[in-house]
Amino acid sequence: MTHCKMALIVLALLLVSSAASTQENGSGAASDDLEAKIASDPVLTRGAFVYNTCKVCHTIGPDERIVSGPDLTGIFDRVAASDPNYGQYSLALKDFGIKWNAKALDDWLANPYGFLPGNRMSFIGVQHPDDRAALIRYLKLFTSLPREAS
Ligand code: HEC
Repeated sequence: MTHCKMALIVLALLLVSSAASTQENGSGAASDDLEAKIASDPVLTRGAFVYNTCKVCHTIGPDERIVSGPDLTGIFDRVAASDPNYGQYSLALKDFGIKWNAKALDDWLANPYGFLPGNRMSFIGVQHPDDRAALIRYLKLFTSLPREAS
């Protein structure tokens, strides 16, 4: 076998193995893209910062875990109280019957208790309208992400 042929075979093997590892890291690459997108946009960066106050009770994105609140991935256009992995919804939220959109999320996040008395989210709300707008844009980013089966 000539040197040249050997080099081609090695190159081909390298290409195959790098394609395989890109596939393996598919979701990692997607979340890297998301992080880059957030870092390059000041509104999304602000939204991510405000979202820190939600993290104690909620997950979003590909890392759904059991926490005290429902997962928020895909919350836009999702019917209220419909996270299949969350079994502790209040009757108030179950009977609510709306699909979440920007307006409903804004009202809910401004004053969760005032908006829907009887709900179980023990959270005072996000006071500043710009913080809410940034947070809602941040939540919307995760709408098209596939939900992680658990
Ligand atoms: C102390 C815990 C806690 C914090 C902090 C919290 N939540 Fe919640 N959240 C809950 C619980 C519990 C529910 C379910 C409420 C119910 O069933 O009445 C909920 C419900 C929701 C829902 C409705 C979900 C659905 O499936 O219909 C949204 C949207 C939401 N929270 C967004 C947020 C956002 C955004 C933040 C941060 C600004 C936040 N929450 C902060 C505990 C929390």
